[in-house]
Amino acid sequence: MLNEQLVSYSGVQPSGNLTIGNYLGAIKNFSLYSEKYKTFYCVVDEHAITVRQIPADLRRRTYETLALYVACGLDPEKNTLYVQSHVHEHAELAWILNCFTGFGELSRMTQFKDKSTKHADNINAGLFTYPTLMAADILLYQTDVVPVGIDQKQHVELCRDIAERFNQVYPGSFTVPEPIISKSGMKIMSLADPTKKMSKSDENTNAVVYILDDKDTIIRKFKRAVTDSDTCVRFAEGKDGINNLITIYSCFTGKTIEDIEREFDGKGYGDFKLAVGEACADALAPVQTKFKELTADKTYLESLMKKGAEEASYYARRTLGKIQKKLGFVKI
Ligand code: TRP
Repeated sequence: MLNEQLVSYSGVQPSGNLTIGNYLGAIKNFSLYSEKYKTFYCVVDEHAITVRQIPADLRRRTYETLALYVACGLDPEKNTLYVQSHVHEHAELAWILNCFTGFGELSRMTQFKDKSTKHADNINAGLFTYPTLMAADILLYQTDVVPVGIDQKQHVELCRDIAERFNQVYPGSFTVPEPIISKSGMKIMSLADPTKKMSKSDENTNAVVYILDDKDTIIRKFKRAVTDSDTCVRFAEGKDGINNLITIYSCFTGKTIEDIEREFDGKGYGDFKLAVGEACADALAPVQTKFKELTADKTYLESLMKKGAEEASYYARRTLGKIQKKLGFVKI
């Protein structure tokens, strides 16, 4: 809680490649949160360098990620949108939390295990302590809820453990946050293997529709989507491919499954796939237009970054100051 208001906090890695799974499952609904919560969305550039980055790409993606959030409907007046490295308290609190986190706890994180297999040539300490930096992000703002994908649940649970442990030694330090796991986001599956979740890092780019894909690409990808040998458009067990397309169509158009089955009664998969592609492209068109406008205006994006960093710093400074005092650091 901050000033009697519930707080929602989420972070996103600066990669421009967000998918329609991210969009439908999370981002599209983010704008609703600001009605109930004080909301923070952070572009986590410090987390990004736990794997090697090309500086020019990291810089461009940081702008793009912020722009994409605004383009997807996050109003910078109602939400605090900012870049992690602009608020130095994140790194400082992360150090403190490192001293309250067990080696064993960090070793059990599945993301660490996955990433150290994938980047075996660079298993650095930052990759290992990634979750304590994430805990610092969350705890600095006395966060009540953390909307994340299921893959981040374990990190939020570790953050709770750290907060509870810290509070036991230094009562009243942190709000203990709850994860909110988006359900619909989990339901958007890969177009190439509809038993698997659509993932922005899938090597097969035909399996994934990105928010920034152009209309032709979107239509081509849906045309190639894996379905089954049945011909009728209906939602049923064992029809993972068609079920996924129905879900996507329903999310973009607001139509119910029954509406959709009726609409395509007597029509084949080809017609249906084209309709899904068009609905998706039409829904994303305004987001893409806004994104282009925003990325063409760096000065404006920088002014948003500055405003966001000032807002975030105010709260971050307050929490860090309180924690440093509790720990016994000398204030001058
Ligand atoms: N680790 C998250 C991810 O990869 C990103 C993240 C960083 C985050 N800090 C956060 C998410 C704080 C929620 C809250 O998706």
